[in-house]
Amino acid sequence: MRERDMTRRRVLGIGGALGLMTATGLSASAALARRPSFTGAELRSAVPLPPPFQVPLPIPSVLAPVSASGGADRYAITQREASAEILPGVRTPLWTYDGTFPGPTIESRRGRPVTVTHRNELPVPTVVHLHGGRTPAASDGYPTDLLLPDGRQETAMHMGHGMHDPRAVVTTLTRDYTFPLDQRPTLLWYHDHRMDFTAPAIWRGLAGLHIVRDDAEDGLGLPAGPRELPLMIADRAFAADGSLAYPALRDRPGVTDPYLGGVLGDVILVNGAPWPEHEADAARYRLRVLNASNARHYELEAVTDDGRRLDLVQVGADQGLLAAPVTHRVLPIAPAERYDVIVDFSGVAIGSRVRVVNRLGSGRTRDVMAFRIARAAADGSRVPRTLSADLPAWRRSDAVRVREFAFRTGRMNGGHGWLIGGLPFDPGRSDVTVGLGEVEVWRLVADVHHPVHLHLVGFRVLSRSGRPPLPHDAGLKDTVSLRPGESVEIITRFDGYRGRYLFHCHNAEHEDMGMMANLEII
Ligand code: C2O
Ligand code: CU
Ligand code: CU
Repeated sequence: MRERDMTRRRVLGIGGALGLMTATGLSASAALARRPSFTGAELRSAVPLPPPFQVPLPIPSVLAPVSASGGADRYAITQREASAEILPGVRTPLWTYDGTFPGPTIESRRGRPVTVTHRNELPVPTVVHLHGGRTPAASDGYPTDLLLPDGRQETAMHMGHGMHDPRAVVTTLTRDYTFPLDQRPTLLWYHDHRMDFTAPAIWRGLAGLHIVRDDAEDGLGLPAGPRELPLMIADRAFAADGSLAYPALRDRPGVTDPYLGGVLGDVILVNGAPWPEHEADAARYRLRVLNASNARHYELEAVTDDGRRLDLVQVGADQGLLAAPVTHRVLPIAPAERYDVIVDFSGVAIGSRVRVVNRLGSGRTRDVMAFRIARAAADGSRVPRTLSADLPAWRRSDAVRVREFAFRTGRMNGGHGWLIGGLPFDPGRSDVTVGLGEVEVWRLVADVHHPVHLHLVGFRVLSRSGRPPLPHDAGLKDTVSLRPGESVEIITRFDGYRGRYLFHCHNAEHEDMGMMANLEII
């Protein structure tokens, strides 16, 4: 890499981007648009790392309901400390849902309500959010709706910056979260969402999957059973004692200077295992991919031993099935995005490997996982040309207003912050008020890379910097990746429930350092 590029990269890494961006504004953004995405700095592990493709791919276990009577499913999850052998021979202490990372998977049917009783046995307050869920506000995991561990009455010290939120609903020890799941079937995920401390909590292990299904999707004939695999991709770094390294500040939220742009790890985990390998049939597989990384972006490819790139046939987005499949060779995935992808291993030599590679990685972070094609097999699956007919088709002319939000770096509490419309998050301020059922167009403008997420609603991507959306923008989304310098228009209808929700950047470090805003539906 040329030296000028290196310097430029370091500046954007980010600390210095603050000065750069505010000084030169959009012209710098325009220059950035031509650059590959790079947001954050990489932590180096202090333990030896295993070679890739040695550890089998774990599949998170499916949680059994404590009861399934009365038309609803009830679950119980205990949040507690546990340790796991993530790297062979290394014990890593974690914060977990029910003792594992990822947490247990919840399997649900569309429209069948689920109540999850969370019990907090961790040393810190927590908040559970079901990402992508159409959830009433009381169960949506607003960042100040804390679930305190037993014996803590006092909340102020956990609020960060002494912020007080009179609307917060704080509970102790246990809390019921109710999810109607009256929504399109898709892969959701649940994760911590505590005010100011979401990034370190997810990093330490507070994330799990929640799959919603329905009869129509089951009837499509997509690969199923052992040929449907959830893949939660997340990067982490390990300290010398085996714990997860994280550059937290000592006495306040946020991270130390080189990591202000986001924390990247040098180990790529899939379902909690480092660079795993999965033994597969020479048949079609349905991969339910989630990027659960705090800040790392991926551009995924499936590459055979003889250098062929397999088609990645996308059948679904964040919020469920596309109208029709879209074929990619490379699939970009930003933090919190999900893709539902069919890969066909039938033409791959038995005994050879298909590596899943991240084009944006370098060295060890280029590899993600591998499939070892173990045996020939019959395959009764198919990929229908029409997948769903219920995608909303909002038109610009349906919109009652257009709003614009700039996602930019700035100053906050005398330090570095990440701001929406020039302001850091404040639970007491109302940022957006919208009437239930109204359609709006939002124009989202970025300095560096920002994956923007709206709670409650799915949206469609209308344009990117005045041009048509990209092939991977198809379908219904709940997170959209704003590339450096880009302006993205989305359209949605704010329906479902009234109440206080959020929208924010899902780079978890940006989120903790202010890049969140209120969305009030009235
Ligand atoms: Cu995945 Cu507001 O969250
Ligand atoms: Cu969410
Ligand atoms: Cu961001």
